[in-house]
Amino acid sequence: MAIIPNIELETKLTLHRLLPRLEKTFEHSISTDPTGWAEFQMRLKRHFPKLFNLYVEIYNERYDLFFHLEDLVTSLARSWFQRPTDLRALDNAREENPLWFQSNQMLGGVCYVDLFAENLEGVKSKIPYFKELGLTYLHLMPLFKAPEGENDGGYAVSSYREVHPPLGTMEELASLAHELRNAGISLVVDLVFNHTSDEHLWAQGAKSGDDEFQDFYRIFPNREMPNLYEQNLREIFPDEHTGAFTFFPNLFKDGGWVWTTFHSYQWDLNYANPAVFNRMAEEMLFLANQGVEVIRLDAVAFIWKQFGTNCENLPGAHVLIQAFNAVARIASPALLFKSEAIVHPDDVVKYISPEECQLSYNPLLMALLWNSLATRKIKLLSQALATRFKINPNTAWVNYVRVHDDIGWTFSDEDAASFGINGNDHRRFLNEFYRGRFEGSFSRGLPFQENPKTGDCRISGTCASLAGLEKALKEEGPNEVELAIRRIHLIHGVILTAGGIPLIYLGDEIGTLNDYTYLDDPAHERDSRWVHRPKTDWNQYAKRNIQNTTEGRVYQGLKQLIELRKQHTVFSGGELEIIQTENDHVLGFMRTYAGKRSVIFANFSEAPQTLAFRIIEQTSVTSLRPLHGRSKLTNYRELKLEPLDFVVFG
Ligand code: GLC
Ligand code: GLC
Repeated sequence: MAIIPNIELETKLTLHRLLPRLEKTFEHSISTDPTGWAEFQMRLKRHFPKLFNLYVEIYNERYDLFFHLEDLVTSLARSWFQRPTDLRALDNAREENPLWFQSNQMLGGVCYVDLFAENLEGVKSKIPYFKELGLTYLHLMPLFKAPEGENDGGYAVSSYREVHPPLGTMEELASLAHELRNAGISLVVDLVFNHTSDEHLWAQGAKSGDDEFQDFYRIFPNREMPNLYEQNLREIFPDEHTGAFTFFPNLFKDGGWVWTTFHSYQWDLNYANPAVFNRMAEEMLFLANQGVEVIRLDAVAFIWKQFGTNCENLPGAHVLIQAFNAVARIASPALLFKSEAIVHPDDVVKYISPEECQLSYNPLLMALLWNSLATRKIKLLSQALATRFKINPNTAWVNYVRVHDDIGWTFSDEDAASFGINGNDHRRFLNEFYRGRFEGSFSRGLPFQENPKTGDCRISGTCASLAGLEKALKEEGPNEVELAIRRIHLIHGVILTAGGIPLIYLGDEIGTLNDYTYLDDPAHERDSRWVHRPKTDWNQYAKRNIQNTTEGRVYQGLKQLIELRKQHTVFSGGELEIIQTENDHVLGFMRTYAGKRSVIFANFSEAPQTLAFRIIEQTSVTSLRPLHGRSKLTNYRELKLEPLDFVVFG
């Protein structure tokens, strides 16, 4: 890309040209809201250089660059004038305390609106429950207008400004955001910005032959380019369609091939067109103005395409997200981004920075927790925490054990090789194990998107079913039930203490099992992820405070861990140091924060384990108080760890 000579001067000149034009356009708003205008100008001046640089980096070859830039800045000002005063106050508060999300008080939850509580009003009525659990962050799965029937769980958006009618209205969403905020809970929603549904107005425009809208997508008149692109592309949903393109007979004269990374009805947007960036920035700011505090940027890896590459994790994707970030800093400063990059760990971290995504899913920790449960060994997990957990101190991981998606084994082959483990073979083992087909497996998982060409496969299933609860309840007995519950607590214990925001997939806190009824629904039967997306059974939830029920045991144990986190500030921030426990089954790590220290041990084996006196000495455990766990120090100052125990000193 050509670099503009003397970019500083150009930045200054451009802003000087833009400001008077904005003043004219917004004459009326400026006169009624002069303070708002002053605030906007202040932030625009501060962040414009960044935005301009990024925009120019992507679009410098466009002859109409200034037109699109002015269009963008106009949208920012318009959106700012529409921003409610309470949200402007939140903007100031967040700017003063930008690391608020690193607090040990933070706890995330995620659910589907319809499955959890029918509709948005239903979700509102569950606020007392969210408070009981301790949530401060609630991710509602895509709730925007989407096609009837198959819509990838809402990830095919037909309008970003309308709530899917059965769930409620945009006014209800804004009101819910407000109520949640009053309860100390930040609302998180997706910005599905890599693609729209083929029923979105833009796609409809493209279908009807409008070439301006055809340029919103990547559409080709024949197979020539798709064939060339596909030489380097991964297949994401091979069960649904091979390759990355879908033929639509009504496009152009003789039909056209649309880029569809995911399902055929999810059309990838063309960000090489600045109009697409501008329109999506408007959608994002619109959501921020409804009170959304965190945007989950869906499928970030795929948004930039470049011929001759695999079109994943390209530098252009980062420039785009940074440009969206600059947009937010100017017109909705409270807004944070969470990256959804379920890719190689080297690539995951590239999205994380205060200028790009302040938050990121931690798919590596997730996958390796399950790996440790299967192998009963901690070496890969310990290595990953030692070498890959540290990120920019002004950002945070979102640590989870399950979400609505399948589990992909995204560990690094090179890391595995350092222990003599072959990545592909090991993935095959994990898939067999979690499908319950390997000896010693406790799991009841299902395959997802098994690709016969590559042997690749991912795993679906709820936390409880993967951790052994389903098998134990249906085929085994009380001992196995106890072990399964310990597994659930063990892995949640790690995500609640490791540093970052722990995220609970709601339902997991009461041990929800797989739900096989998805097989009866034609819209879902081909997508095994629905096995872990059951409709919430509130009768089951009612048992959460009854001691001897399975629900009660899972819930009470988890509540103890949540309270442990919330009572001790040492679980804030992200400083983590690995302890070499000299025991293959026991993970050890130390957390420090503001002069406080905590030592954690997690036994991934069903057999008792012992940590030597030396390890206890080195970590000065005896100078700390035991805060959690069944295990005890012996008279010889060894630590005797109970099966699958999670032990915390602090
Ligand atoms: C994300 C979502 C997943 C969806 C995909 C396509 O990865 O988590 O559920 O299928 O994006 O939008
Ligand atoms: C692929 C994508 C990921 C998405 C998943 C959905 O793994 O990389 O973004 O969540 O598919 O199953």
